[in-house]
Amino acid sequence: MTQDWRGLVLRSCITAAGELRVTVTEEAAGVPAADEVVVRVEAAPINPTDMGLLFGPADLTAARLEGTARQPMLIAPVPPAAMPFVALRIGQSLPAGVEGAGVVVATGPGQEALLGKTVAMMSDGAYAQYRRIAVTSILVLSDGTSPADGAAALVNPLTVLGMLETARRNGHKAIVHTAAASSVGKMLIRACRQDGVPLVNIVRRDDQVAELRALGAEHVCNSAAPEFRQDLARALAATDATVCFDAVGGALTGRILGAMESAASQRATQYSRYGTNVLKQAFVYGALDRAPIEISRTVGLSWSVAGWLLFDFLQQTDAATQARLRQRVCDELHTTFASRYAATISLAEAVQPQTVAAYMEKRSGVKYLINPQL
Ligand SMILES: NC(=O)c1ccc[n+]([C@@H]2O[C@H](COP(=O)([O-])OP(=O)(O)OC[C@H]3O[C@@H](n4cnc5c(N)ncnc54)[C@H](OP(=O)(O)O)[C@@H]3O)[C@@H](O)[C@H]2O)c1
Repeated sequence: MTQDWRGLVLRSCITAAGELRVTVTEEAAGVPAADEVVVRVEAAPINPTDMGLLFGPADLTAARLEGTARQPMLIAPVPPAAMPFVALRIGQSLPAGVEGAGVVVATGPGQEALLGKTVAMMSDGAYAQYRRIAVTSILVLSDGTSPADGAAALVNPLTVLGMLETARRNGHKAIVHTAAASSVGKMLIRACRQDGVPLVNIVRRDDQVAELRALGAEHVCNSAAPEFRQDLARALAATDATVCFDAVGGALTGRILGAMESAASQRATQYSRYGTNVLKQAFVYGALDRAPIEISRTVGLSWSVAGWLLFDFLQQTDAATQARLRQRVCDELHTTFASRYAATISLAEAVQPQTVAAYMEKRSGVKYLINPQL
């Protein structure tokens, strides 16, 4: 008999009437085709990108809960002014959870060797008890790795390795990183130390400075401290960093580029009215500060600001390089790329308004893990 692997699934929908509905419903994962497997998902992190898809621009202060204890539904209004920005998703019930890990419980013909393997997966729809998924979207984890250990094996680790590749491809010798006390930030500190790449970490609180120093970070600057400008100038002079991976945006991006130009002009031997010819690049890969990005004109004329997205990076990266990066993630999953969680919750708990408010704070070290089997 063919099983269709029924289980609970978390979905997010914005209706044309301006209502966000985050639901837990029962669905069949379906029967795997030749290039597919069915994974019993046991762990899936709630990353900032998932929060964007789950809740969009809805006003969560006005959220209410309906449905049953097993299949609850969070409902919240979407402000009318925000509706044009979500026009392309109106009426679509979107599967959530960009990554996770679990055990292969069924395979398509020819994939039987994967049965029983613990795998990480990267594809929307990880917040489900059973997820049918293409074999190309999974990573077989080493023996003994638990789904919780492998839940965040793909997005943040590959982002860190993608940053290092991008910096190298663009000829930069050292890196500046913002929101550096994040999960990505801690992985980047460990990866840069391993690769011998100087790194300037920017955080926004003194306790984060101490925490990152304890991790072995050499240069840590607090953007909220009065001495930030001088600290950053010193760190840039010491490292020669000319590229920034910026998860924050707002005014910070321009402050960093301006400081890089200032450091470059200290080293210049000749005056130019155009500023230095040192290329300063900011790759904005997050939007933690929703304010417009500001670039001060003290940056000279040799600079660029671009968005950076893991999925675009992977598309522009050949198969051999991708395989090398994935292998490194597997080899260093318990060290460089280890993730920690503040709490493990069920699918139903993930839509409770007070739990949502807690993980939506996106505080350092307070990442939540969903175990759909709870
Ligand atoms: N573009 C891509 O492909 C890609 C891939 C992976 C991750 N990302 C992005 O990378 C960032 C980090 O992800 P993560 O999973 O590592 O996050 P995380 O562990 O949940 O940490 C979030 C971090 O953001 C900081 N933060 C929150 N709001 C901030 C603000 N307004 N200004 C400055 N810092 C703020 C927090 O610091 P406090 O404790 O001080 O609040 C915390 O350190 C996110 O923006 C995520 O979307 C992007």
